[in-house]
This record gives sequence, structure tokens and C-alpha cells, in this order.
Amino acid sequence: MSPDELVELSVESFGARGDGIAQHGGEPVFLPFSVPGDRVRARLGARRGGGREGRVVDRLASGLERADPPCRHFGVCGGCALQHLGASSYQAVKLGVLRTALERVGIDPGVVEPLRVVPPARRRARVGLVRPGHPLLPARIGFRERFRHELVDITECLILEAPLFVVVTRLRQVAADLLPPGGSAEATLTRTDSGIDLLIEAAEQPALGALEALAAFAEECDLARIVWRSSGEEIPVLERRPVRVLLSGVAVPVPPGAFLQASRAAEMILVEEVLSGIASLRPALDLFAGLGTFAFTLAQAGPVHAVEARSAPPLRSPALPWAGHGSPSSGATSSAIRCRRNGPPAMPPRCSTHRAPAPPGWPRHSPPPHSTRSLPSHATPRPSRVTPPN
Ligand SMILES: C[S@@+](CC[C@H](N)C(=O)[O-])C[C@H]1O[C@@H](n2cnc3c(N)ncnc32)[C@H](O)[C@@H]1O
Repeated sequence: MSPDELVELSVESFGARGDGIAQHGGEPVFLPFSVPGDRVRARLGARRGGGREGRVVDRLASGLERADPPCRHFGVCGGCALQHLGASSYQAVKLGVLRTALERVGIDPGVVEPLRVVPPARRRARVGLVRPGHPLLPARIGFRERFRHELVDITECLILEAPLFVVVTRLRQVAADLLPPGGSAEATLTRTDSGIDLLIEAAEQPALGALEALAAFAEECDLARIVWRSSGEEIPVLERRPVRVLLSGVAVPVPPGAFLQASRAAEMILVEEVLSGIASLRPALDLFAGLGTFAFTLAQAGPVHAVEARSAPPLRSPALPWAGHGSPSSGATSSAIRCRRNGPPAMPPRCSTHRAPAPPGWPRHSPPPHSTRSLPSHATPRPSRVTPPN
């Protein structure tokens, strides 16, 4: 089989990522955006997962499980992979991914509950922004093509929360003020409980004109904060409000670009499930704690040992002192947090950093090396930063 060979294939099953799988020359060909029953003409590409990547050039016949994708960019944009599936196939693919993952680590996949599907409403996204070298060409913003670097200029996005998409659209309009001709950046937008947080990552540091444009942009879009990251250094352009997310009633500081469950509704379901499954069981360990999505909810019922590997890079002084809110949040120094809710029920959990040996009843083994590194401020909320819920 030579690369770029054009072949006719019948799609027989779904792969783990929801791609259709056909057989050719005794090995699987993974065909994004296809379903079992599709008959396609496809170009064979790079090797992937014990087989080949294939790109559908022509669909000759359609499988029964195919649905009309609602987004005009689907099939080109790499942001979504499964819009071409009907509801039952979509659920089957998602459950299959989960069952396979559980089986791999020896957990009975029978524990999986029926899938609960929430409406698409992502509260965070990372998009590419490009200002072409030619002055007459418009700027582009969007996700990359699947497995490719090419940017898809999105004019709609059905999975993003609407206020995020408004900012995406406005960013395209101000790209020429932010980037030099031919310049590019990645923009991470997060809708926190203080408003939208924008992290821009670019090879170059921002010019003065870009900083001024960003200040105006933040006012116009009512952004909570803008940080520019360049060569590993974070420059807090401005912070109009302290950036916080409420996790089980605790206002937790959010470092730029930090992980949050993509949709608020899905996060509520996960938290509910964790609570109903293990709320009162102790010891409770949250070994991939992030901001504390699960640690804070579990802390309502007793102590929690939460561990997070990543540390936030220190922030410099605000680039626009007149627009800054206050001191940047960073400088965490602990390997773990312990959370304990021991006030009256209306109080949030009280959390403290520590390096002390595990208390009686807690596992005694040494922590792995990664957990002894410094932690970001988001993983080490201090009592002074914890505010009670309203
Ligand atoms: C997908 S996030 C989930 C965070 C949190 N549980 C939540 O749901 O919001 C996974 C987190 O685990 C952290 N992580 C990844 N590998 C780790 C490791 N080996 N030890 C500790 N933390 C790790 C990452 O830095 C990240 O913050």
C-alpha cells in the first residue's frame, strides 16, 4: 500500500474515538466522520494504531446510523468528531470508550450507568488566531483541522457557550492590533464565575499598541482578566476582577488556562455522582485534583487528601498598571492540600496546605515524586482566599 493511495472501502464498525473502521489489506483503516454501512472512496494516509489513517474523498453510500451534522464546519473543523452520529450511536460510542478504559485497568464495565447527555455548552476553549502577512487578507480564528495544523476560520460554533463565541468573533476583528503581519497566537477562553478569562500565547511579547488594544478589548467585552504568555513567561496584561470559580460553594482562584470541566452542567453531574458514590467513605484521596472540583465537594463530609502535579509559572507585574486589579495570584509551595469541613453546615470547607506525614488512618506510602513539586495557587487555596457562598 503506498501513501496517498485511493481505495474503495466499506465501513464496518466504530473505533475508540468514534471514527469508522474499514478493513484493507488485512489491517484496519480509521476513517473520521464515517459510520458503519458507509461505502467510501478514501485516501490512505499515515500509520495509526496498528493500521492506517484514511481520509474520505467521496461517500458512495450512507450507513443507517448517519445523522445530519448541525454545524456548517463539521467534517473540516477538528473541534467536533461525532456530529454525524444519531443519538443512539453517539451514546454507544461514548459508552464504548468508557467501558474500554475501565476494562484496561481491571474494573468491571458493568458499573457504568446509562449515559446522561447535557446540552452542548463548553465554558472553555483554545482557539488559534492568525494574522496573514498580506494586508488584504482577513484574520482567521478557530480550531485546527483534525490531525492537521491548518486553522478553520469558524463563523459559528454550536458547542461553545454563546458569550465565549462573541469574544472569539471580536478577537478576529482586533487581530491586526494584537499581532504583527504573519503573526499567530493561541487564545484560551474560560468562562469563570468572575467573567471571561483570556490567555493569549504567542512567540512574541506584546507590543505597547497590542497592550492598549487589549485594554480596550477587555472593557468592551467585559473580560475579567487578560494574560499574555510568551516563552514560558506570563505577563498579566490586566485583571479587572479577581478570577474565581465556585466549587461546591468555595471561590477558588483560577490560574490562566487552568483545567475546568468543559461544561458546567456535566460538572454538576460528576460532582453529584462522586458525592453519592463515596461521600462518607474515608480516607478520601483526590490524586488528580486540579482546581479541586471533587476535593471541595468531598470535603463537605470529612477530610480529603488532594494532590496536584502542576505548578503555575510566576506572573510578572501587570503590564498595564492602571488597569490591574491587584497582585497576581501565584507562588504556591505545597505538594498537597487537605480539606476538612468542620464548621456548621452553611460554611465552606476549610483547606490548608501541608507537608506533614499522613495522619492515622490515611495511607502511609510515600507520595510519588511528582506530588512533591510545587503546586499552583489553584491547588492550594488558603483560608484567607476562601469566601463563603452567598
Ligand atoms: C483532567 S484534570 C482534572 C482536574 C479535576 N479533577 C477536575 O475534574 O476539575 C487532571 C489534573 O491532574 C493533574 N495531573 C496529571 N497527572 C498527574 C499526576 N501524575 N499526579 C498528580 N496530578 C496529575 C493535571 O495537572 C490536572 O490538573
